[in-house]
Amino acid sequence: MDSRRRHSLPLLSLLINFVLLNPTYGIGEFGYEVIRVNYKFDGSGPTLSALRAHDAVRHLSIFAGVDLPLGGTGRPDAVGLYYAKIGIGTPSKDYYVQVDTGSDITWVNCIQCRQCPKKGYHGIELTLYNPKDSLTANLVSCNQPFCKAIGGGLSGCGANASCFYTEVYGDGSYSMGYFVEDVVQYDRVSGDLQTKSANGTVIFGCGAGQSGDLGSPDDALDGILGFGKSNSSMLSQLASSGKVKKMFAHCLDGDNGGGIFAIGHVVQPQVNTTPLVRDQPHYNVNMTAIQVGSDYLNLTTDVLFGDKKGAIIDSGTTLAYLPEAIYVPLVKKILSTQPDLKLQTLHDQYTCFEFSESRVDEGFPNITLHFENSLSLMVYPHDYLFHFEDLMCIGWQNSGMGSQDKKNITVLGDLVLSNKLVLYDLEKQSIGWTEYNCSSSIQLKDEITGSVHLVGAHSLSRGCITTSRTAAFFSLVALLFILFLQSML
Ligand SMILES: *[C@@H]1O[C@H](CO)[C@@H](O)[C@H](O)[C@H]1NC(C)=O
Ligand SMILES: *[C@@H]1O[C@H](CO)[C@@H](O)[C@H](O)[C@H]1NC(C)=O
Ligand SMILES: *[C@@H]1O[C@H](CO)[C@@H](O)[C@H](O)[C@H]1NC(C)=O
Repeated sequence: MDSRRRHSLPLLSLLINFVLLNPTYGIGEFGYEVIRVNYKFDGSGPTLSALRAHDAVRHLSIFAGVDLPLGGTGRPDAVGLYYAKIGIGTPSKDYYVQVDTGSDITWVNCIQCRQCPKKGYHGIELTLYNPKDSLTANLVSCNQPFCKAIGGGLSGCGANASCFYTEVYGDGSYSMGYFVEDVVQYDRVSGDLQTKSANGTVIFGCGAGQSGDLGSPDDALDGILGFGKSNSSMLSQLASSGKVKKMFAHCLDGDNGGGIFAIGHVVQPQVNTTPLVRDQPHYNVNMTAIQVGSDYLNLTTDVLFGDKKGAIIDSGTTLAYLPEAIYVPLVKKILSTQPDLKLQTLHDQYTCFEFSESRVDEGFPNITLHFENSLSLMVYPHDYLFHFEDLMCIGWQNSGMGSQDKKNITVLGDLVLSNKLVLYDLEKQSIGWTEYNCSSSIQLKDEITGSVHLVGAHSLSRGCITTSRTAAFFSLVALLFILFLQSML
């Protein structure tokens, strides 16, 4: 049993992203100096407001909200990931994409992807997107506003040259390809537990190559649905009509799989919120204290605030990663409640022990994470302990062991987010949650008519898949892929 998110250390979906503008030079001249790499999160990037002017995305009608059917599971003892189904193209075909609030670009694998598997996670039939098969597909050229906004200046962009991307995730996996624009079909909320098909044009990546990880049959999907907060994300594009609130919510069902995933104004349940940390690329929030049972860990705000960056809320990460200065006292305190356990380390990474799964909630303390604005998040032993190779293992991970760029960051993934309704409100720049039954329904308000409708849970597929995989590598491969793409297009 293995997964991208569990074994290669950081196991994060968080993104280190850069976009390559296609230079029109021949392959022989394709050197470092003409590959213009733009780190999106260096803070000095170009304004993305050009996106707003993008005509094609203006005609969306998602005032009433959107209901995205969800599948998958956050339990790391299966492969922990959640995915949604979307329709793309004319005629429309279905694609299964991982829901990732830790990244901003949406992509699906394209016809050019030779190593992409035909079957993936849960045995899902995978579909390669072919722009030539879709009447509504258009290539995005590098001088289009989207490409300029996401990638920077214009030099090196020839007439009609493609807009390339490389999306590298925190665990080292990546997707590379070029941007296309096409019609996306989604379920618009039209009544209580009712939807009508609606569509809108969005720009997304056509993945021509990917790392072995993303292509491993046990957790391969058609792509990733980037629900990050930047203007390039599907959410921002869908919301840029200006007529809908830039809000969405997920409720990841940790017990039954699937859950609720909706875009729009959630009016029920009501949640308390905490402000998003300003000027951070992800959904970062400030943690103020950590409680184990009834005791507070003795932590300084420096440690808790993580160099003022805060803790990242990320649905695309399975577990939860904490800086060493939090991880060590937390795990020590948890284990102090059961001093007789014989600890074992599995896969050099997981602290495990023998314990009856059904008794974990009596045997271990609840963990309460406290955030600014008096918001708290309770994590139960059955959430943070998972069953693995006949043992129970601790889901909290030490990010202090990660590589330099990810060292000591806090990432709160499905381990803590499951079985909670998590509300992302980009209008108010806040995020909040409440304990919730993710098999039930929530209420969304139609911004035009004022009417309120129920949106229910989905479970696209269930089961678990257990095979092993090897870690992927990145770097030179990336360059080779660019050359490969260059020769293909
Ligand atoms: C993103 O778009 C919003 C409105 O569409 C705009 O207010 C904001 O400045 C844009 N952000 C960037 C970084 O361009
Ligand atoms: C998109 O929706 C419009 C309006 O509902 C409809 O007329 C059109 O046929 C749809 N386009 C596609 C490609 O489904
Ligand atoms: C959660 O909601 C579902 C659907 O309404 C219901 O069948 C189930 O009993 C609820 N579970 C709990 C624990 O309340």
